[in-house]
Amino acid sequence: MKKQQHASKKITISAIKADIGSIGGHIKPSKRVLATVEEYVKQNGSDMLIDYKISYTGDDILILCTHTKGKDNKEIHKLAWDAFKAGTDTAFDQGLYGAGQDLLKDSFSGNIKGMGPAVAELEFFERPNEPFLMFAADKTDPGAYNLPLYLSFCDPMHNSGLILSSNMAKGFRFDIMDVSYTKADKVISLNAPEESYQIAALLRDPERFVVEKIISRETGEQAVSVSTTRLHNIAGTYTGKDDPILLARTQGAFPATGELLSPYHIGHFVAGFMRGSHTGPLMPVKQNTSVSFFDGPPVVSCAAYCVHNGKLTSPADTFDHPFWDHVRNNISAKAIELRRQGFYGNAMLPYSELEYGGIVTTLKSLEKRFVVRKK
Ligand code: F6R
Ligand code: MG
Ligand code: MG
Repeated sequence: MKKQQHASKKITISAIKADIGSIGGHIKPSKRVLATVEEYVKQNGSDMLIDYKISYTGDDILILCTHTKGKDNKEIHKLAWDAFKAGTDTAFDQGLYGAGQDLLKDSFSGNIKGMGPAVAELEFFERPNEPFLMFAADKTDPGAYNLPLYLSFCDPMHNSGLILSSNMAKGFRFDIMDVSYTKADKVISLNAPEESYQIAALLRDPERFVVEKIISRETGEQAVSVSTTRLHNIAGTYTGKDDPILLARTQGAFPATGELLSPYHIGHFVAGFMRGSHTGPLMPVKQNTSVSFFDGPPVVSCAAYCVHNGKLTSPADTFDHPFWDHVRNNISAKAIELRRQGFYGNAMLPYSELEYGGIVTTLKSLEKRFVVRKK
């Protein structure tokens, strides 16, 4: 039998996604655009990548790749940027809707973060067996992961390992970003379990406070990386929801795969849905699923992989299981129930989060017509 050892060189997993145009509205990318992105990565990435996979969730294309160049690497980010540019040319060629939507800058400036595409990256020495998950959500924003991450890393109701295993006894450190601060990254580190009430106090406001990273306090290793981009902070105006991705290492000192999936049966209400301006339940879907009802509902896919010497297995599509059909039916019922009240109250996001300017103009013009009655 072969002896299994930790790898001697760190590998990096980079997941980079963008909406560069879709068929029939903001629904799903075309086969030709996907093929263009894949072909570009294949032709131009062979000397820098160990492996890669291309997939989509809703209208977003994901490039998942492995390499040894570390996080925030210029060459890797440029490869993804150029692949999305090539895909955008095809999208224009086919007359796809929203062609190039998430490519918010004219030229590549060294790091794809802050240019529109979402990025999540993990760098580590591979364990002899290295399972990890890639979540991809559409029609929502990065705060959508706040509740599932809290439940998977702080709550034994979802993570039984917190009480059954000694591997997680010291708990986890949460790095949480205040995404309303746009001058630079503004981040706080809080430790679970001691500060789990403080963590909850921040994560209850998912439009402002977003989990960026989670670190194992047993091993010091990073368990989770979330893309924290807010597109309207970059563009200064509405350009689509942020449609976040998340990478998570699983098993051993990290939660089990099923413990990370567990909270998704809730179908918690998130911001997004139609025009990025509504509330809807987050529906776990198979990889390569489009959106539909009311440009939604907000969806999340999760591909599970093992990586060995940087080589990726084929994905196990975690939400492609009969259990999740039942969950999806319940979540459809939740979505319909909330949609019944249309624009009213909690069905639509508060004024500060509305992604379209029309209502702002209306309210401004009405303001002038208000009369303050004399006593
Ligand atoms: C939400 C989303 C869609 C669009 C809607 C209108 O994130 O992408 O719901 O907002 O289809 O699209 P536009 O403004 O492009 O006509
Ligand atoms: Mg879109
Ligand atoms: Mg999208």
